[in-house]
Amino acid sequence: MPAAQHTGVEDGVGLTALMVAAARAIETHRPDALARDTYAEHFVRAAEASAAWPVRPAEVPDGDANPLWGRLGRYFGLRTRVLDDFLVRSAHAGVRQVVLLGAGLDTRAFRLDWSPGHTVYEIDRDGVLAFKHDVLDGLAAVPTATRRPIAADLCGDWAASLVSAGFDPAAPAAWLAEGLLLYLPSAAERRLIDTVDHLSAAGSSLAFEVKLGVESPEVRASPVYATTRRQIGVDLLALFDGEPRPDSVASLKARGWSTAVATPFDFTRHLGRGPLPEPDDALASNRWVFAYKPGDR
Ligand SMILES: C[S@@+](CC[C@H](N)C(=O)[O-])C[C@H]1O[C@@H](n2cnc3c(N)ncnc32)[C@H](O)[C@@H]1O
Repeated sequence: MPAAQHTGVEDGVGLTALMVAAARAIETHRPDALARDTYAEHFVRAAEASAAWPVRPAEVPDGDANPLWGRLGRYFGLRTRVLDDFLVRSAHAGVRQVVLLGAGLDTRAFRLDWSPGHTVYEIDRDGVLAFKHDVLDGLAAVPTATRRPIAADLCGDWAASLVSAGFDPAAPAAWLAEGLLLYLPSAAERRLIDTVDHLSAAGSSLAFEVKLGVESPEVRASPVYATTRRQIGVDLLALFDGEPRPDSVASLKARGWSTAVATPFDFTRHLGRGPLPEPDDALASNRWVFAYKPGDR
């Protein structure tokens, strides 16, 4: 089936949402957890494709030495923590609307301590959001902010759906594209950045993850990719879009945004735990970008 026809959580790129959820479940039960998400394991157990995946550190046979659940999983734990902190900072700065682009099984609308008046918009494909709804409904989970799921293809025109759902382009927003852009064709990434800029009032911020350049054959053959393919059938290299990536940092700067670019390892050092560099590293080209749109509010 062509990738465009995969709209559920159990196939294509949707399955990566379950992979990240499993990593968050494992992270939650680490004694030195970087982030806690008690909903994550319920998603993993509810889907046939992932029901047998580990959700506790003790269920990972080779523990931290496992390239998928030990290293890539810890990377997802670190990413969750860093981007939680980004959203909490935005909320403290007075931003009241948050947009999760490619929200997947992100439960920040339930986990984080939002104040009254916060709205979290979650954009993803219909099948992913329907699965998420069923699991959270079964748990009688109550969001800590107003939550507005929006079923849309982020390669298409999603701006109108976001505004119809109540998003106010005249008020600042915090945008998050966590684990999304790597899967989008470059024209779709350009359009997405363009749309975010158009819908962003002064005082808005955006965090996203990119990979710099093309990974070498040695990196592509590294244990993280091979183990993920072998152990859970997720072929990340096949799912990543193969086109040359646009320079979204330059594009935001040209529109007047200020940007800061960090490696995951910067945060590992800052927080005192997380993945560190290794030879032929599948994480070495990952960058986390934090952008801010200045101006009078
Ligand atoms: C790796 S998951 C990340 C999910 C979530 N942001 C997280 O970090 O837990 C990627 C998500 O992007 C979504 N996605 C990918 N391409 C998309 C598209 N064209 N339109 C809407 N959602 C998309 C997938 O359905 C999936 O839920």
